[in-house]
Amino acid sequence: MGAGAVGSTFAYTLAQSGLADEIALIDKNENLVQGQVLDLAHGQPFFPTVTIHAGDPSDYADAQLIVLTAGATQQSGETRLHLLEKNVAVVRAVVSDILKQNSKAVMLVVTNPVDVMTYVAQKLTGWNRERIFGSGTVLDSARLRHMLSVYCGVDVHNVHGYILGEHGDTEFAAWSMSNIAGMQINSYCPVCGRCIDWAGERTRIEQKVRESAYHIIDYKGATSFAIGLTLVRITAAVLRGQRSIFSVSTSLDGEFGIHDVCLSVPCIVSEEGIVRIVESDLPENEQTQLFASAIVLKEAINQLDKDN
Ligand SMILES: NC(=O)c1ccc[n+]([C@@H]2O[C@H](COP(=O)([O-])OP(=O)(O)OC[C@H]3O[C@@H](n4cnc5c(N)ncnc54)[C@H](O)[C@@H]3O)[C@@H](O)[C@H]2O)c1
Repeated sequence: MGAGAVGSTFAYTLAQSGLADEIALIDKNENLVQGQVLDLAHGQPFFPTVTIHAGDPSDYADAQLIVLTAGATQQSGETRLHLLEKNVAVVRAVVSDILKQNSKAVMLVVTNPVDVMTYVAQKLTGWNRERIFGSGTVLDSARLRHMLSVYCGVDVHNVHGYILGEHGDTEFAAWSMSNIAGMQINSYCPVCGRCIDWAGERTRIEQKVRESAYHIIDYKGATSFAIGLTLVRITAAVLRGQRSIFSVSTSLDGEFGIHDVCLSVPCIVSEEGIVRIVESDLPENEQTQLFASAIVLKEAINQLDKDN
């Protein structure tokens, strides 16, 4: 759903992955859909067999996964929360179409501000929280892993770490969950011995992750490649029932002491969607930061309730 920068890059990457049998692209801009579908279809000799076509709401009926990327984007200097009003209208329209089709799909929300849009979509569908979740901070966690990999001089696949909370300005690095070679990152540092100011550097890395989207949007107008890959990785977990752990955005019901707000915490994702929220004991400073994200997101939700 959405054939713009994010939706089309996701479709392109998904087509090459061999994960999907059928990809239907839906967008209110029908010319864009036709162009994207033709352009993708002409690449078919070079990737695994997959049917790619312009879709319509009837495709929701037997979809296994609906990925919502339709909506307004951040302009230079805008925060994700600026998009609230515009994108609630988009989510409302899409959800209405999905419900009419009696869809049994899992739904992955990407449209920003993704935490609030996930919350709104979940309330409007009435689906259980396992089945509808947001891409949350999976992309931000990938950015963190990339930056740590470069800084520590270790293959990114051997660097684990999570950004939690809001996919936005209050997100934070959960350093207690970040590790290299099975060692918490703070314990790895003395063993590695490469850096001279880890405390300062980790603050700089965290800030750089938080500001990444702003910089990319300033440079090229949108983010697309890394989010496309992120979405394919989450799609693999759903289509292949992989039980992968991601920091996706989910509705909390008392976990981490937070109620009735969607934000990112580590979750196990599989065929049915989120099969488990991995609730761990966060150190006090990280728990405080998670609460701070929850407060900001709750305020955004309350603002919406007032306006509607
Ligand atoms: N969660 C994340 O990590 C993440 C990362 C990047 C972008 N995003 C968000 O994804 C969304 C899409 O970004 P983009 O760069 O692809 O934008 P884009 O403008 O390139 O594409 C958006 C598409 O949505 C379509 N659209 C808008 N309203 C619609 C409606 N009611 N029905 C059907 N189609 C509709 C537009 O025609 C357009 O083609 C934005 O909200 C952006 O902020 C999220």
